[in-house]
Amino acid sequence: MNPQKHIAIVGATGAVGEEMLKCLAERNFPIKELTLLASARSAGKTTTFRGQEITIKELTHQSFEGIDIALFSASGDISREYAPSAAAAGCTVIDNSSAFRMDPDVPLIVPEINPQAALSAPKNIIANPNCTTIISLMALFPLHKKYGLKSIIASSYQAVSGSGAAGIAELELQNKLIANNNPITPDDINVYPVQIASNVIPHVDTFLDNGFTKEEQKMLFESRKILQLPELKVTCTCVRVPVYRSHSVSITAQFEHPVNVTEAKASFTDQPGIKLKDDPENNIYPVPLDTTCKDDCLVGRIRKDQVLENALTIWAVGDQVRKGAALNAVQIAEII
Ligand SMILES: NC(=O)c1ccc[n+]([C@@H]2O[C@H](COP(=O)([O-])OP(=O)(O)OC[C@H]3O[C@@H](n4cnc5c(N)ncnc54)[C@H](OP(=O)(O)O)[C@@H]3O)[C@@H](O)[C@H]2O)c1
Repeated sequence: MNPQKHIAIVGATGAVGEEMLKCLAERNFPIKELTLLASARSAGKTTTFRGQEITIKELTHQSFEGIDIALFSASGDISREYAPSAAAAGCTVIDNSSAFRMDPDVPLIVPEINPQAALSAPKNIIANPNCTTIISLMALFPLHKKYGLKSIIASSYQAVSGSGAAGIAELELQNKLIANNNPITPDDINVYPVQIASNVIPHVDTFLDNGFTKEEQKMLFESRKILQLPELKVTCTCVRVPVYRSHSVSITAQFEHPVNVTEAKASFTDQPGIKLKDDPENNIYPVPLDTTCKDDCLVGRIRKDQVLENALTIWAVGDQVRKGAALNAVQIAEII
């Protein structure tokens, strides 16, 4: 039985922070005390956890005395500035941002895939992978164990809640304007470069010199680190779609060994955190609404690829606020 811990959430008022509260409560995490931290804008507001009212405090460098585990979900800049203070105060940081993911001294953990790596965190910081990467690897890991993963070609269909509370608000506003026959003006477009309602935007995160975005490169470098496959090849197009919650990913994966569809489907039997939903002739396949606010990711449309040898094409869906962020972080806290 885990001893009771003093837990802090940095970014407790955000999309991920609020989901962390739900995950901690649902999973009966052994909590002695809960400290909720956000910006000065939220200091003094209250929220309820397990029937108790908790006042949100402003994050400072002194916030971490006596705290055992701090779940960070504010931004990369906030993590870079405050996580070292938390770690120096003896607190283990579990960070949702991209700030430390590629640091060789920071383990990058999906508990269903590489839980043992979480036990060695020399900087007292453990990183939660990118949400699209987590959902993709949840679907690919059972296949990798069977056939040996060589390459991934993927396109994502990413929900607006991936951009936090502001992304949800922008889609809600634009949907309302359209429903009321009102025009969408430049003032109504802030989070995304163009209108997201009734649209699809092939642009998530900032562009790099090679024409890919940072989000797309995260799939490459984070997958290599998590799976310990330094030669893994990944090419990816990340797309924002007008869906509120749950990311979907279309993946063509090539393997070292010949694949068999029936066998591939069977590899998802009894796997933690991922379930097969695959009977397309009866219109049974995963859709984002299936996984919304749920822990498990879903995989379907498993078929032999028609272009590459030893390759399968699959469709993976998961709640990116939950398994892609909050739940994964709480599962890491359970391991340590
Ligand atoms: N949303 C997702 O699906 C998802 C998935 C994976 C990873 N992530 C990562 O998780 C992190 C949080 O994302 P989110 O979607 O939850 O964002 P969000 O909804 O915009 O929430 C941001 C949180 O950060 C807090 N914050 C902002 N500035 C602060 C400051 N100066 N000091 C202290 N706290 C501050 C905000 O507090 P106030 O309310 O006081 O402003 C709020 O609680 C990001 O690094 C994001 O990349 C998000």
